[in-house]
Amino acid sequence: MSEIIITTLDPQRRHDAAGIVRDAFWDLYRPGCVEHLILDLAHTAPEYLPGLELAADLDGDLVGVGLATSATVIAADGRPTAVAYLGPLAVTPEHQRTGIGGALLRELLRRCTVLGLPGAFLYGDPGYYGRFGFADAAKWSVTTPDGANFDAFQGVELRPGALDGVGGRLVESSIFEVTTEQADAFDSGFPPREKHVTDTQF
Ligand SMILES: CC(C)(COP(=O)(O)OP(=O)(O)OC[C@H]1O[C@@H](n2cnc3c(N)ncnc32)[C@H](O)[C@@H]1OP(=O)(O)O)[C@@H](O)C(=O)NCCC(=O)NCCS
Repeated sequence: MSEIIITTLDPQRRHDAAGIVRDAFWDLYRPGCVEHLILDLAHTAPEYLPGLELAADLDGDLVGVGLATSATVIAADGRPTAVAYLGPLAVTPEHQRTGIGGALLRELLRRCTVLGLPGAFLYGDPGYYGRFGFADAAKWSVTTPDGANFDAFQGVELRPGALDGVGGRLVESSIFEVTTEQADAFDSGFPPREKHVTDTQF
């Protein structure tokens, strides 16, 4: 029987991992994608967390990738709290909805817990992340850097009560600010692929 194996991503597989992210995100949230470049940049960022760049293998083939980096919740009085920020999380389209994304996410959360981080945040579909315990970040008075809250912005406590009193603005790594132009330049290292406008974009 096929078995999903989750391990720390071998740096030599980083280009292949970016290819998985590209396949999963292409045309999903914008024409083309930027998330493959975000994954590629992560290990160069000060927010990189060793052991939190994961690979999912199925019968020896790389089929999924998950990343967590460190982020900071900055309270109104300037007090910083280090938390985890999850993403990108990607499973190659032909293997989606077979439990691989869930396995990656659970292992990311387990490793973040082992690091002693109080909570993890992400932007994603509440229909998917709710089952892993994620709730609206507003529950802990954590907002975006602009002070906003919305359904997609979610968090989870990694120990009971660990996010109590942590409220503030979540500041993520600058790797999440990549431009389309930078992503296009990185994309030239992959087989050419057309971009399309689709109804999943906003
Ligand atoms: C999101 C993603 C990582 C999930 O991985 P996966 O391996 O497909 O998910 P799993 O098999 O672990 O979970 C499947 C369950 O989640 C549901 N699900 C999967 N993707 C979902 C989504 N985007 N929205 C709502 N539910 C979703 C499935 O319906 C299924 O539910 P069921 O078991 O009740 O039928 C994967 O679909 C993916 O790579 N998507 C494209 C990139 C992306 O959007 N990443 C997340 C950005 S925040």
